[in-house]
Amino acid sequence: MTQATSTSKAAEPTELRWDPDLIPPFPAIALKALNLMSGTDTSLLELCNLIRSDPAFSIAVLKFANSPLVAFSKNVTSVMQASMLLGFRRLRSMLITIGLKAYLQGSFTPLMKLCWRHSLACAIIAERSAKWSSLDTDFAYTAGILHDIGQVALATMMPRAYAHVMERGADQPHDLLVVEQELCGIDHCQAGRALVIAWNLPDAFIEITACHHDSEAHTPGTPSLVPPSCALADSLGFAVVRCRTSHSYAGLLAEFPEPARNRFPADTKELAAEIANEIKVIESA
Ligand SMILES: [Fe+2]
Ligand SMILES: [Fe+2]
Repeated sequence: MTQATSTSKAAEPTELRWDPDLIPPFPAIALKALNLMSGTDTSLLELCNLIRSDPAFSIAVLKFANSPLVAFSKNVTSVMQASMLLGFRRLRSMLITIGLKAYLQGSFTPLMKLCWRHSLACAIIAERSAKWSSLDTDFAYTAGILHDIGQVALATMMPRAYAHVMERGADQPHDLLVVEQELCGIDHCQAGRALVIAWNLPDAFIEITACHHDSEAHTPGTPSLVPPSCALADSLGFAVVRCRTSHSYAGLLAEFPEPARNRFPADTKELAAEIANEIKVIESA
């Protein structure tokens, strides 16, 4: 008999156990976009045809393409026109954002909203620092959007256990993994890694999801922007689980490549307001 029959300790009888097969799949178009790594005309056309086959994605792409985020001088009236104007890489980043939004909207609880805002804040910071460091801005943005997908998965499957994780909090971001292990039986980095494999995403996302709280395990280049972007997003007020130990703004910026460090606003409030504003624009797109 595998099913627990005792009720005395079954405080959360309907809570699911971690199983990547039970996690709702990420929207198919966004998964396909993540797997199309090349930016050839054929892959742009392939993306375009996929979008056109899905009315909800078509509307979302047109809304994004006509929003202040993109600011084209002319009105974008078709998916094909949006695709040509945006280009493959930018269109792909946009689809991942739309995909995450659609993914979370099934249960847009306050916890999911925190996950959404943290992912966006991290993506915006990673994208900016990539631009200032002459790294791959689109990959940085996508990596930022997806780095904590394991946390989204845990919060989806085990909302009550995850509420306890949030109550408990952590001293340092890395301690959060220990608390998750204790209360959920798996941490969000392991969960993220399992999802990247289950969804057949490119290997580059394994490191992004599995190692972003491991200060020793950064590949130089664009992936190395994710850990400091995640930490900075937390400190600016976009954390999912608050850490009791806070780091100075200067200390957090020192983790970015040199060219990016001096480009951030001197005032954290100014940076937080800029990011909050960008999130608002994305949310309303
Ligand atoms: Fe994380
Ligand atoms: Fe994060």
